[in-house]
Amino acid sequence: MLPKHVAIIMDGNGRWAKEQRLPRVSGHRAGVDSVRDIVQACGQLAIPHLTLYAFSTENWKRPKSEVSVLMELLMVYLRSEIEDLNRNNVRLSAIGQLNALPKPVQKELHSSMEKLAGNTGLNLTLALSYSGRWDIVRAVQTLALDVRRGKLSPEDITEDLFQTYLTTADIPDPDLLIRTSGEMRLSNFLLWEMAYAELHIASVFWPEFRRDHLYQALSDYLQRERRFGKTSEQLTESGSQSRSYVQKIIDLITRQ
Ligand code: IPE
Ligand code: IPE
Ligand code: MG
Repeated sequence: MLPKHVAIIMDGNGRWAKEQRLPRVSGHRAGVDSVRDIVQACGQLAIPHLTLYAFSTENWKRPKSEVSVLMELLMVYLRSEIEDLNRNNVRLSAIGQLNALPKPVQKELHSSMEKLAGNTGLNLTLALSYSGRWDIVRAVQTLALDVRRGKLSPEDITEDLFQTYLTTADIPDPDLLIRTSGEMRLSNFLLWEMAYAELHIASVFWPEFRRDHLYQALSDYLQRERRFGKTSEQLTESGSQSRSYVQKIIDLITRQ
């Protein structure tokens, strides 16, 4: 089956720009075209959830000028894409320390989310000023408050309950994580949620990543055996998908 949730670490904008002898920010600008294509392709494939890592908590440490271009680009993206997103039936949400974003960005973000709230297609989540550890600590704080208020006792805390305190409570865990630019690390993205995600590292930089690269990642994913700790034999017993079925989906995807 195709993944229900694809998460992407959009990396390599700066290196792409450097290769073209352009300033780093041109790489961020060019990356917007990749976002457009991938969002559209995921919608067409009826993938229910797509989460894009657009700005990490650690990215605040970059030069001020680069941070302000990134914030501006986010505004431009939301303004220029809203109609297209709406036409494509996309719903928008955001995770992260949103109140750390500049006020105009927060406003634009909230109004875009509101405009798209009634849509029923792809759920697009932007991770903005996000870090996995920040989210886990925030969840622990809220949980601790609920214990102090007597709403919960420590024995009630299970993995399932804990998950409901994360900002991703309403989204299933990612099945597939894609990172572009060849880097093989999580960089503080969805740490709890990534427990059993399949990893796909694409060598191209984010501004070069297009739907064909996504199809490659998906066809790669479809050939993985997700064992979740079990043995291969156990999976076959419980009726895992036949190779011909997997091949059929791959053909369908690559023919699009
Ligand atoms: C990803 O590209 C965009 C953000 C992190 C905001 P980078 O800006 O990290 O590009 P590289 O990794 O320096 O090439
Ligand atoms: C991860 O990329 C964050 C985003 C893509 C938004 P970085 O480029 O910031 O990650 P590191 O610093 O190379 O780990
Ligand atoms: Mg990077």
